[in-house]
Amino acid sequence: MNGTSRHFLDLTEFGAEELRHILEGAKRIKSTRNGVRRGEGPLAGKVLAMVFEQPSTRTRISFDVGMRELGGETLMLTGAEMQLGRGETIADTARVLSRFVDAIMIRILSHDDLNELAENATVPVINGLTKLSHPCQIMADLMTFEEHRGSIAGKSVAWTGDSNNVLASWVHAAPKFDFELRIATPKELAPPTALIEQARAAGASIVVTDDPYEAVKGTDCVVTDCWVSMGDDDEASRHNLLAPYQVNARLMQEANPQALFMHCLPAHRGEEVTSEIMDGPNSVVFDEAENRLHAQKGILAWCFGAL
Ligand code: CP
Ligand code: NVA
Repeated sequence: MNGTSRHFLDLTEFGAEELRHILEGAKRIKSTRNGVRRGEGPLAGKVLAMVFEQPSTRTRISFDVGMRELGGETLMLTGAEMQLGRGETIADTARVLSRFVDAIMIRILSHDDLNELAENATVPVINGLTKLSHPCQIMADLMTFEEHRGSIAGKSVAWTGDSNNVLASWVHAAPKFDFELRIATPKELAPPTALIEQARAAGASIVVTDDPYEAVKGTDCVVTDCWVSMGDDDEASRHNLLAPYQVNARLMQEANPQALFMHCLPAHRGEEVTSEIMDGPNSVVFDEAENRLHAQKGILAWCFGAL
């Protein structure tokens, strides 16, 4: 948060109590959803600009519908259609957008650009995914875990696959929500040491290994994501390195029998996860997708001081 605006940029910028407040607010908003009529609500008259430099299905639609369900309106923009695509600076774009709209949600690969936007905007800025993090996703994932299994505190979550933006936000969440995180990646794609050390310094219990079976053994939740994220080169070597980290029936057998399977989607069936697991009884991937809507309504309400 800067002096004037309530930004939602990364989970690291929040205290544990504030994040819990947003999550519980989101759950409350979800539980009263049926009584809400579109066009009415706490954000009536507010406009959210949504800027996408990369494609999106869930983030785009859930923010759009969420804003409408809170009574507000949205503008859907892409960098290529704006003067951003012709070299107008991020800082000037932030200053101009702030004169027109009440909040900005942006998906942009460069995390530095996200920060520059937030520093120069006088309205709240929300991180809709950068190359470094995806905090809205993890708020939805935490909500999904707790709906199915109760408090995540004291539970364990195993990540298997590539080290990417979604994993980074899981790492950021670990010390805030007090769960153990066990990460299995190929050595060549291991998470940055500083990311892990910062979370450990904040009190998180984090195991890093290159053995997916060690990470998953007895865990309460198995999480994976695509092998090639937006902005990555789709090289054959990546696929070869990541093949042993696929979530399949053999790997899931090592987890707690009640373990949930999560994936932020879009999934690449037959690569990072088999259809048997995606469509199996432990999978909550579509609840996760739906909870993007509810979690982000909590985040939006918080940004506008309406939670
Ligand atoms: N999980 C997620 O952010 O999906 P989209 O890329 O479709 O927004
Ligand atoms: N790690 C993926 C997440 C997509 C929602 C990516 O950055 O492409």
